[in-house]
Amino acid sequence: MSNPAPASTHPEATWWRQAAVYQIYPRSFADSDNDGMGDLPGITARMDYLSALGIDAIWLSPFYPSALADGGYDVDDYRNVDPRLGSLDDFDAMVAAAHESGIKIIVDIVPNHSSNLHPWFQAALAAAPGSPERARYHFLDGLGEEGELPPSDWPSHFGGGAWTRVKEAAGPNAGQLGQWYLHLFAAEQPDFNWDNPEVREDFHTTLRFWADRGVDGFRVDVAHALDKDMSLPLRSKPALEILVDDGSDPLFDRDAVHEIFAGWRSVLNEYDPPKAAVAEAWVPFTDRRLKYARPTELGQAFNFDLLQAHFDGTEFRTIAEKCLSEAEASGASSTWVFSNHDVVRHASRYALPDDSTLETLEAWLLSDGVTPATDLARGLRRARAATLFMLGLPGSAYLYQGEELGLFEVADLPAAALQDPTWFRTQHKIKGRDGCRVPLPWSATELNFGFGGTPWLPQPSWFALQAADVQDGTIGSTLEMYRDALALRRKLQTEESLEWLSGESGPLVHYRRPNGWEVLTNFANKPAPLPSGVDVAKVVLSSGDPADATTTIPAETTLWIAP
Ligand code: GLC
Repeated sequence: MSNPAPASTHPEATWWRQAAVYQIYPRSFADSDNDGMGDLPGITARMDYLSALGIDAIWLSPFYPSALADGGYDVDDYRNVDPRLGSLDDFDAMVAAAHESGIKIIVDIVPNHSSNLHPWFQAALAAAPGSPERARYHFLDGLGEEGELPPSDWPSHFGGGAWTRVKEAAGPNAGQLGQWYLHLFAAEQPDFNWDNPEVREDFHTTLRFWADRGVDGFRVDVAHALDKDMSLPLRSKPALEILVDDGSDPLFDRDAVHEIFAGWRSVLNEYDPPKAAVAEAWVPFTDRRLKYARPTELGQAFNFDLLQAHFDGTEFRTIAEKCLSEAEASGASSTWVFSNHDVVRHASRYALPDDSTLETLEAWLLSDGVTPATDLARGLRRARAATLFMLGLPGSAYLYQGEELGLFEVADLPAAALQDPTWFRTQHKIKGRDGCRVPLPWSATELNFGFGGTPWLPQPSWFALQAADVQDGTIGSTLEMYRDALALRRKLQTEESLEWLSGESGPLVHYRRPNGWEVLTNFANKPAPLPSGVDVAKVVLSSGDPADATTTIPAETTLWIAP
């Protein structure tokens, strides 16, 4: 393992530990040139909005040149900007504007796979089996007499198998069907071979490229998948879940990934302050997950436990407690997230019946959001309560664009508009993630709700009710609640610990930060008496109507109580 530099004493070295990070899905944020696709100048133009929101950092989903087979997570060139989204100069201007507003920039790095249009993959297709060009990816001969069967039974995340057969362009079998290449996602996303030092070196170059341009951190896509057991014969793995998480899975969370990230940390520590990083690692809740977040590796790892939980006090409290102790053990700070570009927006998830499962969600999307019926008012009420519960916790809060408007999932996008590879690769059995990626409504009255040109995904008419301009300055709006919370959060987040004031289970969850700030959530669907000692005069923020907190706390509500 490489030896990372000693911890920096730079005053900015730990800015990320309790940051509020706002995820921008660039194509859907703001469109400056009216082509229907959001872009980097659109982000720069909205910097005042982001600054007024009170965030500490922006995480930018991929903006690199891409054919958009997977919304940009299929990267053609890791060190450039998609011309539809702007130029490197536009990128620099955006970083400068963000920094002027005191906002840091985190960019998404996609190391598990490139796109099929990446020059390396094109070279691999043009080269013969066994060539160095092929060795940057995973090319294997097929099974069966003629190599007509894929090398293993591994499935792809988006449906179908993880192997695609190529027609050889060179070598003795030129012109014939030949080897297969691995893609754990879409066929347009060939997996890199991380045993190849050239791949490792190239990603170090990419990290330095963006770090030199002033970015402050990196979000690492599918961090747990880089190392694979490719020893022959390949082991069977008919499902993508990790059944036993002990490092023995052929595809995920293998020990050797940590060597890769220790190497990344050495690169990130070449800068002072060191660059931050957060791993997207869908690894079960064991102490293996905290390895990604060690100071000798990425520093933080997402945990999706709250995102996957029901709106339930006991579940929330148990998860918060476990994540905080996990973070402490690793030297990281915890991360919290309810919504991102991969999941149904939390205001809609919480509007579904309480016993909903992942299957319910998928069926709900396929029914165009009709069955089962949702209770949207309740969904939003719970989403707001959950958000305030989370924003009071120590650690970094990752927010997804539009959640500050209380946006619901656009569950009824017409089939012809859908773009998620999941929809195509499951033969229309799973609808996928487009419903949370619809371009934002900035204005209730302007054309395309002020987004720009005709959006690449159609916006529903009800966006008028949730547009930013109708919420701006409106007391009680979700936007104003987020603004108030993010401003107050700066006072509340002085130390990274808390004390639980309520018991381990039950619908009322109450905690206190060392500086005396308290957060109280009633997860039940009926009001509860205020715990003794809570002074209603000190309630400075409520996810509901503050006037409703008297001797009771209303149903599905969070209160922030100042010292
Ligand atoms: C991550 C991204 C997701 C993408 C996948 C493949 O999970 O968040 O959007 O489809 O990786 O890159």
